[in-house]
Amino acid sequence: MILRPATMTDVPMLRYWDTKAHVREGLGANHDGNWEAELQNDADWGECMIAEEKGRPVGFIRIIDPAREETHYWGDVEADLRAVDIWIGEEADLGRGLGGIMMRLALEKCFADPHVKAVLLDPTVANIRAHRFYERLGFRFIERKRLGNDDCRVYRLERDGFAG
Ligand SMILES: CC(C)(COP(=O)(O)OP(=O)(O)OC[C@H]1O[C@@H](n2cnc3c(N)ncnc32)[C@H](O)[C@@H]1OP(=O)(O)O)[C@@H](O)C(=O)NCCC(=O)NCCS
Repeated sequence: MILRPATMTDVPMLRYWDTKAHVREGLGANHDGNWEAELQNDADWGECMIAEEKGRPVGFIRIIDPAREETHYWGDVEADLRAVDIWIGEEADLGRGLGGIMMRLALEKCFADPHVKAVLLDPTVANIRAHRFYERLGFRFIERKRLGNDDCRVYRLERDGFAG
């Protein structure tokens, strides 16, 4: 498994994944799917990546600096954190352990920056499978918080809690 930068040639695939029920239900109302704008934005506070298993794209990962992200989606948040979004494209690839591998690669990338203290996640309150998935990876529930249009549970993994 590798993570590589998402490019404009990935837009049709990302749009297709956006039509999937598990993606729509998992991501909630905050996912706007404006992929052209997102992938053309070369701001240094975030990056979009495609996970490839043996050369086949299987999922998407976004890493942002929540204090510097331009819409201030996370509200008042401390510096030196990262926030991650993750999903798998095809339903046939769910539950195969790919998400765990993708998230470990994303966490390695986040914590490779020695300034990064912790990583945040914001699953919707309804996304119980994602809560379990994140807890298995060592994330701890912090608070329930309204983020954008969604009622979310905020999870956090400290640098010390990441096995690497
Ligand atoms: C959350 C997600 C990335 C986990 O990756 P994964 O490779 O499926 O996870 P793993 O194989 O490591 O673990 C098994 C998990 O697969 C997930 N899963 C399996 N089938 C699923 C389905 N039909 N729909 C949603 N999730 C499913 C569950 O979280 C399951 O955990 P559980 O057995 O405790 O319910 C992936 O399920 C996904 O893309 N879900 C939809 C989008 C989403 O909710 N993203 C997170 C937004 S915060």
